[in-house]
Amino acid sequence: MIEIGVLVSGNGTNLQSIIDSIEARRCSARIKVVISNRPDAYALKRAEKHGIATEVIKKEDFPTREAYDTELAGRLRKHGVGLVALAGFMRIITRTMLEAFPMRIVNIHPALLPSFPGLDVQKKAIEHGVKFSGCTVHFVDDGVDSGPIIIQAVVPVKDDDTVETLSKRILDEEHRIYPEAIHLIGEGRLQVLGRRVVLKDGPEPTGSLENPPVSIFADKTRP
Ligand code: GAR
Repeated sequence: MIEIGVLVSGNGTNLQSIIDSIEARRCSARIKVVISNRPDAYALKRAEKHGIATEVIKKEDFPTREAYDTELAGRLRKHGVGLVALAGFMRIITRTMLEAFPMRIVNIHPALLPSFPGLDVQKKAIEHGVKFSGCTVHFVDDGVDSGPIIIQAVVPVKDDDTVETLSKRILDEEHRIYPEAIHLIGEGRLQVLGRRVVLKDGPEPTGSLENPPVSIFADKTRP
């Protein structure tokens, strides 16, 4: 079974979804440690409630990002972690971590990458006027939200969406796909071919979406 370390900075709803999926035996993994860069992250309380080890590594205690990541990698190794899951961890990961866990760090991002990498992406999606947004689980590489994509889920952007309503719709999908991605990695079901991550023996994706759903071809004359 894959042994994971979850890195958090805030509320930890994605952490919660991973914990719940493991406890419900939908996701075959074990969380060895939850590490936060912020001592007040509510995610730490969520972990403690489930008897999971927690640690805090504050950025002020390290002179450089690399020094921080050396400590981080050491603590993850000490707990026997084989896969690192970033769950709202608001720090850039350096080469030090990438070399310690090559293709063994995953992240969840609240947009359909490669559109809208970085921060405040729900606001940016609304302002840009995209009709769909969603979330992406991807392997972490040395760019910003740029690594090979594992799973994406799509949600419509509604005309009256606020950052809050869109974020909630996206977050519900995050909670579904992040445990799925971890399960697939743990089960060895993914093959990484350069930038493409392929699901071995997976079902064919089907269906298409349009927004607004005008459906002028609803009379089945659709070509
Ligand atoms: C989530 O929406 C996650 O996708 C996002 O932070 C939120 C954390 O929520 N991550 C990023 O934006 C990383 N670039 P959570 O603490 O409730 O899981």
